[in-house]
Amino acid sequence: MASSRVRAATYEAAPNIALVKYWGLRDPERVLPTNSSLSVTLARFRSRTTVRFDPALDEDSVVLNGRPADPGPREDVVGLLDRVRALAGRPDRAEVRSENNFPTASGLASSASGFAALAGAASNAAGLSLTPRALSQLARFGSGSASRSVFGGFVEWRAGRRADGRDCYARPLFGPDHWPALVDLVVIVERAPVKTVRSMEAMQSTVRTSPMFRRRLAELPRRFARIRRALADRDAGRLFPPIMEECDSFREACETTRPSLDYLTVTSRAILGEVRALNREAGRPIAAYTHDAGAHVHVFTLERSLPKVRARLAHLPGVLETRAIRPGAGGRLVRP
Ligand code: DP6
Repeated sequence: MASSRVRAATYEAAPNIALVKYWGLRDPERVLPTNSSLSVTLARFRSRTTVRFDPALDEDSVVLNGRPADPGPREDVVGLLDRVRALAGRPDRAEVRSENNFPTASGLASSASGFAALAGAASNAAGLSLTPRALSQLARFGSGSASRSVFGGFVEWRAGRRADGRDCYARPLFGPDHWPALVDLVVIVERAPVKTVRSMEAMQSTVRTSPMFRRRLAELPRRFARIRRALADRDAGRLFPPIMEECDSFREACETTRPSLDYLTVTSRAILGEVRALNREAGRPIAAYTHDAGAHVHVFTLERSLPKVRARLAHLPGVLETRAIRPGAGGRLVRP
């Protein structure tokens, strides 16, 4: 019987930063978003997760970065394991160990890399051989943005229209080597507020209460197309303005949510101001800021402008460090 055997798998996945944000669900139960999103999978940062299904276990054990998981994250992990057990028809409990090579809940999207790695490890350990598309559909039940971390490079998560979610999945648009000169300078700030409310809940209060939300939704298809085309043409002059426009639209939707959602610190706001000043001084867009539901700021620029941009941002009060990150690979199975 399949369930009488111990089976393990280890899977690695990277965080991603969205250029077009996922912020709103049309069906929270099935994790179907209100809009398609587009992100860059990052090199260097990784979540590595091992799942071992063992018929001798009485309950799931979840260890995150060497410590037993808190009840909230544990419940989310067990929820995804239950989904995998249902798909595979295996009742066995599992041991889950996951490590990040970057700070958890730091605004570096550990939920995206973590749940993509969990979906990959658990489905393989359970003997399911899912296509990458099906894996992206599984990963989104852990965290919506995890659907995109299954793939490397520039990735689209299609919202789809169907009520059953079959046309809602992530797919790669351009590979990690598509545009070697494009760099994401991750600007890590001091005292980043620890994320307490899951984005999945926060975004639904935006859908319910922000007067900006409908307008944002109406603007998105055009902005998505502009960003996609500028990426295809490797044209920074056409890419950077809509990246910032999208970030501003996301932030305004958050700030006009009741109660208001404010993810930034004074330093984060100073970074946005400095990027605007750099572009003004250059007389053209040489950098673009974006951020997610956290205080660190991702600043996209081209290799040739990196020294100048970095010099201006690294010395702002409250900036702890800057890391230049390239687009990276998608998820993969690794030896434990
Ligand atoms: C602002 O998918 O990370 O980063 O389910 O709470 O883990 P959880 O939500 P998550 O939300 C992502 C929100 C965002 C935008 C994006 O990544 O598209």
